[in-house]
Amino acid sequence: MVSSVVVRAPSSTANLGPGFDVFGLALDAYYDEVYLEKSDHGIKIQSFDTIPLVPEKNSAGLVVKEMAKKFEIKSGVVLKIKKGVPVGFGMGSSAASAAAASVAFDALFNLNLDSNTLVKFAGIGERASAGSVHYDNVAASTLGGFVIVRTDPFDVIKIEPPKELVLCVAIPKIDIPMKKTQVSRSVLPKQVKLSDSVRNLSNAAAIVAGFMKKDVELIGSSIKDIIIEPARQHLIPGFNQVKENALHAGALGVTISGAGPSIIAFTSRSSNPKKICSAMEKGFMSAKTKCSTVICRPSKGAIKV
Ligand code: HSE
Repeated sequence: MVSSVVVRAPSSTANLGPGFDVFGLALDAYYDEVYLEKSDHGIKIQSFDTIPLVPEKNSAGLVVKEMAKKFEIKSGVVLKIKKGVPVGFGMGSSAASAAAASVAFDALFNLNLDSNTLVKFAGIGERASAGSVHYDNVAASTLGGFVIVRTDPFDVIKIEPPKELVLCVAIPKIDIPMKKTQVSRSVLPKQVKLSDSVRNLSNAAAIVAGFMKKDVELIGSSIKDIIIEPARQHLIPGFNQVKENALHAGALGVTISGAGPSIIAFTSRSSNPKKICSAMEKGFMSAKTKCSTVICRPSKGAIKV
């Protein structure tokens, strides 16, 4: 009988512009690793990274706690977390740990859960960091590729991204507020104009069509959000300049990665991603902000290693 498992889950970008809380894309930029081992009793979290070690405050710990409760698991567990995804920068860090925990728990206790259920449990982990449950990052991290999260009825639809798709992510070196996702959700409008919603919906639909047709140009040109991005961009120094520079350097579409502050540019293999990255760096420099950049591709989901 298996007494321990290790699962690796990728970073991700959420929203992709107009798909707030609905779209997610797994990225091969970074990975979190979760090691889960049966023990006598309780949940013990260990990590060399600066993350909360109390189960209720840790996205992976909360997932394990809820799954143990739901499936009436008597055994205790030791949970070791190795962070690879930068924490708090809009790259789905808490989601990667939560997704890895959900998949690891399922494997360790032979639960054979379906993918929607794995995503649902992983989503509970977001409560530990974001204060509310949303499934876009965890769905991408769990299943890989491009995902659409439907909440009523709950269903995650996965589409294999085009091989040509390349992403440039610029991660600014700025201080992140405590509970960053909660902060960046608190600036969002409670109501939106119908005409704005129609414009966002049309672009969201075109993004889905772009993934279905494996059309990178269609995906990129539809990364346009007139609701969430304008409300959040003031939280990111130099946002407009970074976006303008990236588009000028050949990016097809640019937006905030998840709740930010990273900025993501969508492009194709035939473009010049290094040029786009350096244009984004210059954009941040115009606001006296340094950044690191990473060129990445869509990733597979959480897997046992
Ligand atoms: N959809 C979420 C947001 C992703 O933008 O707030 C962040 O976790």
